[in-house]
Amino acid sequence: MRLETERLVLREWREADKGLYAEIIGDPAVRRFFPSVGTFEDASAGIDRAIQRLAVLGFSFLALERKADSRFLGMLGMAPFSEAVRAAIPGAPEVEIGWQLGQQYWGKGYAPEAALAMLDFAFGTLGLTEVVAITYEGNAPSRRVMEKIGMVHDPEADFLHPDIPDGHQLRPHVLYRIASPAPREVPVSLVAPR
Ligand SMILES: CC(C)(COP(=O)(O)OP(=O)(O)OC[C@H]1O[C@@H](n2cnc3c(N)ncnc32)[C@H](O)[C@@H]1OP(=O)(O)O)[C@@H](O)C(=O)NCCC(=O)NCCS
Repeated sequence: MRLETERLVLREWREADKGLYAEIIGDPAVRRFFPSVGTFEDASAGIDRAIQRLAVLGFSFLALERKADSRFLGMLGMAPFSEAVRAAIPGAPEVEIGWQLGQQYWGKGYAPEAALAMLDFAFGTLGLTEVVAITYEGNAPSRRVMEKIGMVHDPEADFLHPDIPDGHQLRPHVLYRIASPAPREVPVSLVAPR
C-alpha cells in the first residue's frame, strides 16, 4: 500500500524504520500526552502489529516519509479499536485514524496533509462510512489536526481511556468524527437512456 500527497508518501513499514520510530516514541516531548515514553520493543511490536493488520485488513498505521529527502517523519494511519477501547466509547465506533511525528517535523502541516489522503482512501477505496479519532482532552495539536481535516468533536462520545489507570490526569479522552461524503447524485441529463 502506498499513498502520495504533494509533499509526502505513506508507505509500508521497513525493518530499518523500527529504530527511527523508537527514537520518536522515546522522546518525552512527543509523548507528553501519553502515560509513558515508548521503548525500542514497543516500536518494534507496534510496527509488527501494523504490518500484520495491513495484510489482514488492507489498511493500517503506515510509515510517513517526506518526498524531498526521503526522511522518515513518523507514523500515520488507521486501525480498528481494541475491544476494551471500543467498549469504553459510547456508540462503539470501529476505526480510528491516528498520528505521531518526530518533533522536528511539527508545525508544517504534514499530519493533516497525509491524513486527508488516508481519509480519501478510507471512504473512496475501502468504502468505510465513518472514521473517528481520539486523544487526551488536553492534546491541542492533535485536536487541531482533527479540525483541519474536517472532523467534528462529539462531546457525547467523550470517554475515560480504559488503558490509563483510574484517576490519572491523562484519562479523559475526546472523540472526533467524520462521515463518508454522500455519494454524488448523477445529474439526470447524464444518465444514459435505456
Ligand atoms: C499531533 C501532531 C501529529 C501534529 O502534526 P503536525 O504535522 O505538526 O500538524 P500541523 O502542522 O497541522 O500542526 C497542528 C497544530 O500543532 C501545534 N503545533 C505546531 N507546531 C508545534 C510545535 N513545534 N510544538 C507544539 N505544538 C505545535 C499547533 O497548534 C498547530 O495548529 P495550527 O497550525 O493551527 O497552529 C504532532 O504534534 C505530534 O506528533 N504530536 C505528538 C504525538 C501525538 O500527540 N499524537 C497524537 C496522539 S492522539
